[in-house]
Amino acid sequence: MCGIICYIGEQNSIPILLEGLKRLEYRGYDSAGLASINPENGEVLFVKSVGKVGELEKKVKSTDFSGNYGIAHTRWATHGKPTEANAHPHSDCTGKLFLIHNGIIENYEILKKELIKKGHKFVSDTDTEVLAHLIEDNLKDNFEDAVRKSLAMVEGTFGIAAIHKDFPRKIVVARRGSPIIIGIGENEYIAASDVNAFIRYTNRVIYLNDDEMALLNDNELVITDLNLKQIEKKPETIDWQYEADEKEGFKHFMLKEIYEQPRTVENAVRGRLIEGEGISKLGGLEPVLDRILNLKKLTFVSCGTSFYAGLYGKYVFERLTDLDVHVDYASEFRYRNLKLTEEDGVVAISQSGETADTLAALREAKRKGSLVLGLVNVVGSTIAKETHAGVYCHAGPEIGVASTKIFVSQCVILNLIALLIGRRRGLSVFDGMQLVKEIKKLSGNIEKILEKADLIREIAKKYLPYQNFLYIGRHLNFPIAMEGALKLKEISYVHAEGYPAGEMKHGPISLIDEYFPTVAIATNGFTYEKMISNIQEIKARNGKVIAVATEGNDEIKNVVDDVIYVPETIDILQPIVNVIPLQLFAYYFADFKGCDIDKPRNLAKSVTVE
Ligand code: F6R
Repeated sequence: MCGIICYIGEQNSIPILLEGLKRLEYRGYDSAGLASINPENGEVLFVKSVGKVGELEKKVKSTDFSGNYGIAHTRWATHGKPTEANAHPHSDCTGKLFLIHNGIIENYEILKKELIKKGHKFVSDTDTEVLAHLIEDNLKDNFEDAVRKSLAMVEGTFGIAAIHKDFPRKIVVARRGSPIIIGIGENEYIAASDVNAFIRYTNRVIYLNDDEMALLNDNELVITDLNLKQIEKKPETIDWQYEADEKEGFKHFMLKEIYEQPRTVENAVRGRLIEGEGISKLGGLEPVLDRILNLKKLTFVSCGTSFYAGLYGKYVFERLTDLDVHVDYASEFRYRNLKLTEEDGVVAISQSGETADTLAALREAKRKGSLVLGLVNVVGSTIAKETHAGVYCHAGPEIGVASTKIFVSQCVILNLIALLIGRRRGLSVFDGMQLVKEIKKLSGNIEKILEKADLIREIAKKYLPYQNFLYIGRHLNFPIAMEGALKLKEISYVHAEGYPAGEMKHGPISLIDEYFPTVAIATNGFTYEKMISNIQEIKARNGKVIAVATEGNDEIKNVVDDVIYVPETIDILQPIVNVIPLQLFAYYFADFKGCDIDKPRNLAKSVTVE
């Protein structure tokens, strides 16, 4: 979703801001803009464009402007269409103030009416512009004070950055519910909504908390709360490597990330498995381990692909632990009247660590006294900070909007958490050792599937004429059917539905005919025979079937139209192997259709609105 980057220091801000915007592109956006001030001559560069950052860059490069501080933004439309007028920065009636904003100002209509009565002229449909005029209205002789006063009047969420021509060499940033991270370099500060935007320059950071603001000067950083009470904060050094946003020869980031998965699995388990004892070691959970071991109930809350990881986690926990395990969409969990107590645990699963609904769910659980844990990829993200304890994925940045490697990482780590609890609550050392042994083979198993990418590509090509797909699986593979269908629909825009195979007869089978193919996950295991029965039912109605089956199963070829073979592992890990061909199928299908795979329409990488 929207992204913020701002720079103040000795360098020309323009290339740093443009690079930062490019590194925010993966979050999803539809327009971009930038404002920079040259304090030497008072010149201002204020440009916006619809579409890619490249368009903005062309406009910027047609000037020879240089200014050592500025703010820039990528916008994902919420209030008003993606137009230049609606793109950020927004300005005031004087044209001297520039403001960028992530989040939503909920009371903007009331404020706007009042400001219009006072004579303010609006040029956009956005909620953000209201804040720019509000600051103008409150401005006397102190810029940061006007920002503070204005923020006190708004309801909703914000991560903002603002500059003003009459108050040179100053950037004011503030947050409530939308992240702002300040990077500290040599005689420079770079603030952003996402460390990815500036990690190349520094890994020393300060995270703003809700209702905090900071004043960035050339060589001074002052942090206060919204009552201007000064706050001392020590910079943290973050363990997040700069990775060039390069596709390294792959056509898309999504494909690169699919191919990275053997390494993703290794990174997820590195230093976290004790093979001889059949147990895992998760430093992040140690401070609350006693409480975890005494939990009565555990609930996974998350959204989208992370929800399917949680759904898979439920089956894993049921197998490895004696806990009462539940799973819920974060967007639903938050509204339920749940009987949560101190003996409950809630695990928020989130790649970005910023998903608004997941955050709201975890806050609700915390309010009721439950232990709240996080399974997050982005280090220092809001969910990572607000949970009592947690485990990081260590999967590096995921640029493709459709999640692939993080899903796999989440699934692997859910096994590690279940193993840790299970082994302390009755799981045998033998079972633990077997799981550890098989986890260690996972990356090799994934490599074997990647070697078959050409075959999967051919199958995807064959099914291009179809507009609807059903994905079915049973038990542990039911979440994988859901995830496979989500991958196809989000990047190729064809309709795909995931279903537990046993439910097919209760409705969806009426859809089946020669035009409605099914992807059936039919690897070996105790539900295999039942899956074959479901496949037969589809075939009896002329439905085409693509099966994901275990290597060596020659019989299935006689039943289905196409087979993708995968290596065999123990049943609780098999879904992690089975999802790989579904990712590749979706990828190639969308690529043949010529879709914008890394940035599918309407989607955002980090969903910070509810
Ligand atoms: C789909 C996808 C989304 C996210 C969902 C939650 O490929 O990536 O469904 O999984 O928006 O995001 P996080 O995991 O960041 O909370």
